[in-house]
Amino acid sequence: MRKIILLVFIIILFLPISKTISEETKNQGLDGAKVFRNNCNRCHNYRFPNERSDTQWEIIVPHMRVRAQLTEAEANAVLKFLKKAN
Ligand code: HEC
Repeated sequence: MRKIILLVFIIILFLPISKTISEETKNQGLDGAKVFRNNCNRCHNYRFPNERSDTQWEIIVPHMRVRAQLTEAEANAVLKFLKKAN
């Protein structure tokens, strides 16, 4: 009985971690450059990655995420792309 309780406890302990890992793998499947290309010129011309610093993109992307109606994973992928390309 004790062992089962311990086992359940250990499983509960690791649940949030496995969720984080699956979120990350979901991000990796998304091409940030493609999400950017498909969405970020719908309302204005592309703002090129090198126009802004990492810190600026960290603020801009959540704003534009709402406008472009991106999922969290898509927004993260775009941010990753912009930071890499600037
Ligand atoms: C639904 C329309 C829409 C979409 C889609 C959109 N934007 Fe914008 N964007 C705007 C508007 C409107 C402004 C100007 C007003 C503002 O800053 O909120 C703007 C402003 C900006 C600015 C200038 C911000 C500043 O204050 O210097 C940047 C950079 C930007 N967008 C990047 C992006 C990126 C990257 C994407 C793709 C994830 C994107 N936008 C998608 C509507 C949109």
